[in-house]
Amino acid sequence: MADRIETLSRRRLLAGAGAAAGLLLPASVSLAAFREVTPRQPAGPFYAPFKPLSIDNDLAFLPGRTVRGDGQLINLVGRVLDQTERPIVGARVEIWQANAYGRYNHPRHANSDLKLDPNFQGFGHDRTDEAGAYRFRTIKPGPYPDSPNWLRPPHIHFAVFTPKADPWTTQMYFPGEELNKTDLLLNGVGDAVDRARLIATIEPPAEDTGSVTAAFDIVLGQTRARRT
Ligand SMILES: [Fe+2]
Repeated sequence: MADRIETLSRRRLLAGAGAAAGLLLPASVSLAAFREVTPRQPAGPFYAPFKPLSIDNDLAFLPGRTVRGDGQLINLVGRVLDQTERPIVGARVEIWQANAYGRYNHPRHANSDLKLDPNFQGFGHDRTDEAGAYRFRTIKPGPYPDSPNWLRPPHIHFAVFTPKADPWTTQMYFPGEELNKTDLLLNGVGDAVDRARLIATIEPPAEDTGSVTAAFDIVLGQTRARRT
């Protein structure tokens, strides 16, 4: 809440400064372009504990395989931005997720009865381009039980690495999922508008591929500087 108050105050301050400064501001600076940050979410227990041999931005097709991972194919796109909507260029974006059956390819999920998919990569990375854009091809993850009374909704974990700050970790959710209403982590974000920033925008399937596009921008706020 304190962060929110601080953000709103800063926005008013910027607006006031703009009115006072008038033509002194460069034409490229738009005071209207101010984005709230994407809420942070925990990385969880299933971050890769090893360096996978294949960690490109295509999780759905493993190199050399002709069969893709099971499930709904997703083109996952978005941009990494700062709060003034400037693209963050060259950021390393990592994702990790369960497969279509809700199973992580991770030792901590080894006691699960959920099905492993040998054709699904589970981890991937990309690097943002000049527009701050990233892209992945992946599979819509299935839900999985986190504990006996908690079924996690489909979600994809993100970590964004920039040179001088701690990684920004968050989780992306899918719209319209019944489990979103009861998820402890999603609903741990108390403000409904902030929760909405964690939900992707889904576009209809492309006719030729059967894939859907999930769009998810990540807006980074102030981050702690690394000590080293
Ligand atoms: Fe997870």
